[in-house]
Amino acid sequence: MQLGDRHGRVATDLRVSLTDRCNLRCQYCMPAEGLDWMPTAEVLTDDEVVRLIHVAVTRLGVVDVRFTGGEPLLRRGLASIVAATKAMPGSPRTAITTNALGLSRTAHALAAAGLDRVNVSLDTTDPEMFHRITLRDRFHDVVAGLEAAAEAGLTPVKINAVLLRGLNEDEGPALLRWCMERGYELRFIEQMPLDAQHGWDRSRMITADEILARLSEHVTLTPLDGRGSAPAEKFQVDGGPHTVGIIGSVTRPFCADCNRVRLTADGQVRTCLFAREESDLRAALRGGADDDELARRWVEAMWGKAAGHGIDDPTFLQPSRPMSSIGG
Ligand code: GTP
Ligand code: 5AD
Ligand code: SF4
Repeated sequence: MQLGDRHGRVATDLRVSLTDRCNLRCQYCMPAEGLDWMPTAEVLTDDEVVRLIHVAVTRLGVVDVRFTGGEPLLRRGLASIVAATKAMPGSPRTAITTNALGLSRTAHALAAAGLDRVNVSLDTTDPEMFHRITLRDRFHDVVAGLEAAAEAGLTPVKINAVLLRGLNEDEGPALLRWCMERGYELRFIEQMPLDAQHGWDRSRMITADEILARLSEHVTLTPLDGRGSAPAEKFQVDGGPHTVGIIGSVTRPFCADCNRVRLTADGQVRTCLFAREESDLRAALRGGADDDELARRWVEAMWGKAAGHGIDDPTFLQPSRPMSSIGG
């Protein structure tokens, strides 16, 4: 069996959210006071997460597994979940998307457990601006986490940056220079309507075109081919060897080539970031379903995946789950 949908796409990339909690408060994600976190009883146990990943890998053709959050480093069982995933048939590629807080202490253990690489969210190279965006004074912890990740071989280390109008909008070129000096692969992401506050405003979003225009005032960008189903369009900087990526999720969607499926920390399959419906694998699993049944339900859920994110539709409604609980 495979995770095909009615539009001819097949999901082979599973993104598993391990917690909806986070220790930062990025303005484009959640409010200063945080959110009502999921009750522990609703969150899948380590064994349950591993069981569902095993179904996806051994029966449904999943070959990439990315752990997300909230902040996945806050999940105590992360290293053992990674190790169990890596030990599955075919040894899936494993990665995390993290804010890197605490990564300086755990990078080596995660690499030893079989983690292949990390993507780190960082929107500025200025500690004060970091504080303004995330409401926490932790810039230097992120830098230490990045260094430890590179040293532990969790490479290529990628950086995800969201530019916000009136805040860090001018920081693109500085971020690019900073990342190139350190050997990190930078990608800029268009802000999506997935914040818990529902404050997204298209007219304030910094678009892919705008990011490219601003970068081009400082460097020469040459588009690279071979994007496949990756969300980032890549550009060579000044003839190489460095590259920069643009994830234009809103204005240049890659939905037609999407190969992703998501599992939330409370065991719901989401076929898209913007899906309107979820499929409750936790209820099935806790109700005693065997692996055949879990696989069947997953396949059934996948068939209904929408063709695209629909942000441009007049009837578009932001999903009720915010990014921090869907997993980025
Ligand atoms: P790589 O394999 O390293 O390229 O990972 P990635 O870019 O897929 O993962 P990451 O978690 O770093 O995501 C980077 C950005 O892409 C985040 O802002 C995500 O929200 C966005 N993104 C990831 N998956 C999707 C998706 O299915 N749809 C859309 N529209 N954006 C996505
Ligand atoms: N729009 C775009 N990217 C977002 N991220 C979090 N919220 C949003 C949003 N509303 C980014 C984070 C992280 C990745 C998982 O998604 O910065 O790098
Ligand atoms: Fe935490 Fe990521 Fe949301 Fe920032 S964007 S508050 S790091 S979950």
